[in-house]
Amino acid sequence: MGVFFKIGLWPAAVMILAVSTVGAAAQSISNGKDVFEDECAVCHATEANINGKGPSLFAVAGTRAATATKFKYSAALINSGVIWTDDQLDLYVKNAKAMIPGSTMGGKLDDAKARADVVAYIKTLH
Ligand code: HEC
Repeated sequence: MGVFFKIGLWPAAVMILAVSTVGAAAQSISNGKDVFEDECAVCHATEANINGKGPSLFAVAGTRAATATKFKYSAALINSGVIWTDDQLDLYVKNAKAMIPGSTMGGKLDDAKARADVVAYIKTLH
């Protein structure tokens, strides 16, 4: 299992230090790609119509949730009506089950900068 799951266990002090160190640095697509490969790629493909444990994330940004072809989504995500704006993606990746109870994606990405970067990267998948 990747760092995705372990990151949630970081002491709060380390998180605060990490956040203040990066400050308001601009989103980095290349760092987002690294985060994606470490934390997301095990379940998500970036090419269209390829599903793994999770659905393909090709062109997911800006679309309605649960629309990748042939993926068996949870009823919770299908019925959520969520549109994947930056804010909604950020919330979901932070804690999918807290945002959408019954969603089947586990894991939490607590680092706000990592989330911003991974969202910036996801938006390049077209
Ligand atoms: C252990 C497997 C797993 C990992 C790791 C994982 N996901 Fe997911 N993801 C899923 C599953 C399963 C779903 C579908 C959830 C449902 O149907 O409720 C999903 C759904 C999604 C969706 C919604 C897709 C859609 O079509 O509406 C997004 C966006 C997403 N994941 C992003 C990420 C990002 C970004 C990461 C890395 C930070 C990540 N996921 C890590 C399993 C995973």
